[in-house]
Amino acid sequence: MSILQATQGIHDWIIEHRRSLHRMPELAYREERTSAYLRSVLEGLGIEVQGGLGGGTGMIADLGPKVGRRIALRADMDALPITEDTGLDFASETPGAMHACGHDSHMAMLLGAARVLKEREAELKSPVRLIFQPAEEGGAGAKRMLDEGVLEGVERVFGLHVWPGLASGEVGLRDGAFLASAGFFEITITGVGGHAAMPNLAIDPVPVAAQVITNLQNIVSRERDPFGANVVSITQLQAGDAYNVIPREVKLAGTLRSLSLAEQDANAERIREITTAIASAHRCTAEVSFPGTIYPPTVNHPGALAIARRFADAELGGWVHNPQTMGGEDFSFFAQEVPGCFAALGIGDRAKGTDVSLHNPKFRVDEDALPVGAALHVGFALGV
Ligand code: NI
Repeated sequence: MSILQATQGIHDWIIEHRRSLHRMPELAYREERTSAYLRSVLEGLGIEVQGGLGGGTGMIADLGPKVGRRIALRADMDALPITEDTGLDFASETPGAMHACGHDSHMAMLLGAARVLKEREAELKSPVRLIFQPAEEGGAGAKRMLDEGVLEGVERVFGLHVWPGLASGEVGLRDGAFLASAGFFEITITGVGGHAAMPNLAIDPVPVAAQVITNLQNIVSRERDPFGANVVSITQLQAGDAYNVIPREVKLAGTLRSLSLAEQDANAERIREITTAIASAHRCTAEVSFPGTIYPPTVNHPGALAIARRFADAELGGWVHNPQTMGGEDFSFFAQEVPGCFAALGIGDRAKGTDVSLHNPKFRVDEDALPVGAALHVGFALGV
C-alpha cells in the first residue's frame, strides 16, 4: 500500500478529529483543551507525549528508533479572534474564536501521519519527533519551543499550511523564501498639548505624525531594491478627541514585512531613525518600539525541499511552484535552526466554497485534501 493509500484509508478518522478541533478553537497560549485532546488521541495510538512546553500547551512526541538524527514534523494549534460565519454544522462553538487559518487541519493531518507512522514504526530509519506548537498567530510559539530545545538532535524539519490559492490536493513547494519576515511597530510622538487657537503656545505632534507617515513610505519606494519584496504599512493612527485641543501625543502603529532578513532589519532601523529625526526636527520626542518578536522569513532549504519534491513526484502526482507571500509564519524559527521545508497544501475548490482566503470568517477547508497533507508528513519522515 502506498503512503497516500494509507492516509486515504484513514480519511474519515482525520476528518473526525479535524471537525472536533474545529468546534473548540482556542487563542494563542490558551490551547488547553486542544492540547488535552491531542494528547488523548496520541496516547490512544500508543504514542507517548511530553507536554507542558511552549508556555504550557505545546507538546512533542517521539516515534521510531531511539538513536540517530531526528526528523521533526510540526503542526500549530492556535485559532484566531474571529467569529465564524460559515454555517457549517461543526462550526466554532466559541464566539470570537475560529480556526480561520486552518490550524485544526494542520493538527488533524499530523495526527493522521502519527497513526500511519506508528503502524510503520519498524520501517523508520530515523527517529521522528512530532511537534504541536502553540501561538503561531503573532505569539512566536515556535520560538519559545525552540528555546526549550525541541530541535535538539533534529536533522530536518517539515511543516505545511493549507492554501486556498492552490487547487485542492495540489502540493506547493517553493524554493528559497516562501513567506515573509513579519513584525509590528508602535510609535508615540509627544509634543506639548494646548489650545488649538494658540498653536504657537503648544508643540503640535499631529503635523509631525503626518510627516512621519509620509516619510516612512520612502523606505520601501526609495531605499529598497525594487526586485526585493518589502512592505511598511501604517494601520493605526490615534490623536486627540476634541475639536479645539491640540493633543499632547499621537500614536501610530503598523507592520513591516520583508522576504529578506537583512532588509527587514534595515527597515526596522530606518523606521526608528526617520521617526526620531522628524520628531526632533519639530521639537517633539518619539518612542519607537517593535512589540513581540519579529518573525524571520520562512526559507526552504534545498536539501529538505528536495526530499519533499521527490516524494510528491513519486507518490502525489507532482508539485507546483506556489507564489511567495508577504504573510508571516513562525515555522521560520525552526527553519532558521535546521534545514526545513514548509509546503503549501491546496484546498481551493470554488464549487465547494473553499477558495475563501485565510483569516476570513467564511474560511473553509476542502477536507478531501487532508490525506495528501498527512501523506506529505509521512513521506518526509520516511525520507522516501
Ligand atoms: Ni496559519
